[in-house]
Amino acid sequence: MKHIDIIDIMKGDYIGKSVTVCGWVRTSRDSKNMAFLELNDGTTLKHLQIVIDKAVMSDIAEFMKLGTSLKVEGTVVKSVVAEDSVEINAESITVLGVCPPEYPLQKKRHTLEYLRTIPALRVRTNTFNAVLRVRSVISACIHEFFQCRHYTYIHTPLITGSDCEGAGEMFKVTTLPFDHGFKTEEEADAADFFGRRAALSVSGQLEGEVAAMALGKIYTFGPSFRAEKSNTPRHVAEFWHVEPEVAFAELPDIIEIAEDLIKHIINTVLEKCPEELKFFNAHFEKGLIEKLQNVVANDFAVMTYTEAIEALKASGQEFQYPVEWGCDLMTEHERYIAEEICKRPVFLTNYPKEIKSFYMKQNADGKTVAATDLLVPTVGEIIGCSEREADLDKLLEAMNIRGMNIDDYTDYISLRKFGSVPHSGFGLGLERIIMYVTGVQNIRDVILYPRTVGTIS
Ligand code: 4AD
Repeated sequence: MKHIDIIDIMKGDYIGKSVTVCGWVRTSRDSKNMAFLELNDGTTLKHLQIVIDKAVMSDIAEFMKLGTSLKVEGTVVKSVVAEDSVEINAESITVLGVCPPEYPLQKKRHTLEYLRTIPALRVRTNTFNAVLRVRSVISACIHEFFQCRHYTYIHTPLITGSDCEGAGEMFKVTTLPFDHGFKTEEEADAADFFGRRAALSVSGQLEGEVAAMALGKIYTFGPSFRAEKSNTPRHVAEFWHVEPEVAFAELPDIIEIAEDLIKHIINTVLEKCPEELKFFNAHFEKGLIEKLQNVVANDFAVMTYTEAIEALKASGQEFQYPVEWGCDLMTEHERYIAEEICKRPVFLTNYPKEIKSFYMKQNADGKTVAATDLLVPTVGEIIGCSEREADLDKLLEAMNIRGMNIDDYTDYISLRKFGSVPHSGFGLGLERIIMYVTGVQNIRDVILYPRTVGTIS
């Protein structure tokens, strides 16, 4: 169907020309001699006004119903009311798909909670139009960031036999029937599709390290799966994960790369999504644009875990979960550190080794690992990062302490035998950075179909 995108019509280059546009009716207004429709085709947040002269077109009832899809032919003219806008004087209108009155999006504003109950239609709201475009722009600029810096994009497997984070929060992959009749898990695993236990991957890191030991600088960008029963505004069971892995990089090097990536993402959204940011600034987070401008203009803070614990304890703030050296930080702590103590994004470094993963480089103090999380105001952790343990004996020791089955990790371990090098990497949750950049507070509202504990639609 030959037609022009509304975003292009809005640029003003078609004034005086005859055009065809397609879209869905967002609003409609009828008066004595004229009728007005606002059409949206999803290419921009802006709606295009269609002006109908009832002397030319009288049978307009079907066009006026919200949600109806139309093909409109007409002439582009300067808007009578908004100086920098355009509208179309309609000459002919074809209904492509009728929309009955039970169409749920009749009101101007719906709660995000209600919209979650109609996932197939919530994408037609301004909020999702803006979120999904920002998501697309961020995804493209992540590729651009790495591609311009000699990183190779690697596709790591989604089905795996090893647990990267060692947290036992994996979705099992099986083709065994419900009543398989095996007496032990081992027997069942051996008879299963792969002849051993398999699961959906929580992270592409382990395979990413394999690739980085050949290609030097790699990144992965795909879905990760976590079966953690965290019913929070920040957790989904299926999220999109960006994981660079860099050979010959120590912790300070990878921190620099992570900060550059976040600033690149924010700069790109500031440049490419001004309409969307104005929308989020008005409806989701007052001061959002200024916040983003400040983030790119200033250095991120760096603070050790130990310093953070001291600062939390000295703050006098009452937390639901008490703070002691050695504790895992909760969102309330992470947000307090970023929002109140540092007042900007902060890399928290050198966590106690007991609360972090087996693969992290052990520091000389014998107590901490060279790991860092990037904590940002309003969201908390958006990046988990570390230098990797490159020493075979220390790695094996950390795995043994955790009771891990070494045989599941033979490939990974072999990297430490054959030309091991210092290397580092991180994981950035795509949904978490979208929340930070848009001010949308619930992760369920920045992904098309959120997968969370107890719900799948
Ligand atoms: O800190 P995490 O668990 O680190 C890893 O997976 C490492 N293997 C990454 C690496 O070094 N290559 O997860 C990294 C990030 C988190 O900071 C968060 O942004 C996101 O992944 N994330 C989630 N996002 C949404 N829902 C969940 N359930 C998430 N779990 C982690």
